[in-house]
Amino acid sequence: MKATATANSNIALVKYWGKRDKELILPMNGSVSMTLDKLFTKTTVEFSEKLAKDEFVLGGKKFAGNEDEFSEVKAFLDLVRQKAKTRARAKVVSENNFPTAAGLASSASGYAALALAAGKAAGLEPDAKELSMLARRGSGSASRSIFGGFVEWVKGKKKDGSDCYAKQIASPEHWPEFTMITTIVSSAEKKVKSRAGMAQTVANCPLYRGWLDSVDKDIADVKKGILQKDFSLVGRTAEHNCLKMHATMIATPPGIIYWQPSTMRIIHAVQAFRDEGLECYFTIDAGPQVKVMCLQKDAKKIEAKLNAIEGVKETHACKAGGKARLVQEHLF
Ligand code: PMV
Repeated sequence: MKATATANSNIALVKYWGKRDKELILPMNGSVSMTLDKLFTKTTVEFSEKLAKDEFVLGGKKFAGNEDEFSEVKAFLDLVRQKAKTRARAKVVSENNFPTAAGLASSASGYAALALAAGKAAGLEPDAKELSMLARRGSGSASRSIFGGFVEWVKGKKKDGSDCYAKQIASPEHWPEFTMITTIVSSAEKKVKSRAGMAQTVANCPLYRGWLDSVDKDIADVKKGILQKDFSLVGRTAEHNCLKMHATMIATPPGIIYWQPSTMRIIHAVQAFRDEGLECYFTIDAGPQVKVMCLQKDAKKIEAKLNAIEGVKETHACKAGGKARLVQEHLF
């Protein structure tokens, strides 16, 4: 009844932004990501008849039960209990090796690790596809962190979500030169969480239709680029897709602006590096951090240049990482 799992975070090259079903977490559009080797969550779950209520500890902080994070984790545990036909309460202890909720995809690695650990602890035996569908119910992007390497989350068409899951496009070994340098410019928790931000965008953004009409082409181009190892095609498309997503956020009244001054400094720096002949591209999620894509041969030089930009606190040069997995060492 006790299990521990680790899952790596992932960064989308083509973003998920908008839900067609909030309860089942079904997306308006498909997405493609890279799983990162260096950023991960480790989670231990134990179901026990002896517990009077669920307990949740994240990064050493014990949640009292009235926080959004706690109700989301509890709702996820309810789903696992329903599938496993048990009423036992659970203790969940989780740790990230990077700042939580600041735009480094902690919900992706978090719910992927929770889905695997809770599923195992409750006696469920999901295959990887089913596990991605379970993780999806915690956080959409978590569906992609079940797999390593380069991953697609297919949006599906069915109302019940049975055709909406993640699958691997290419293994981590396929393209070891592809590097994603994550920068941290602020470790403050963001004001508008992606869940609320995307709901407001779908409801009120006059540009959202343009996003939906053009995203399938981005998916096709990024997948082609990954399979052919065409760095320019992947980078160019990913940067464009990110700017298009942020354009919809910014054009949602009242504007959702995740960028900080340091975010803008990095955007301009990356464009200047390119003008100097150093090929790199940026992508940004629902937060201020910028992730810079480049090839291994340029990674050291670009990382040093990024660290020299005002406001950059840390950088991590990541490669494509592995899948979510069970481990023996429990956190309690
Ligand atoms: O899975 P969520 O609810 O944290 O949403 C993730 C949204 C983005 O990070 C902005 C895009 C993505 O595809 O990861």
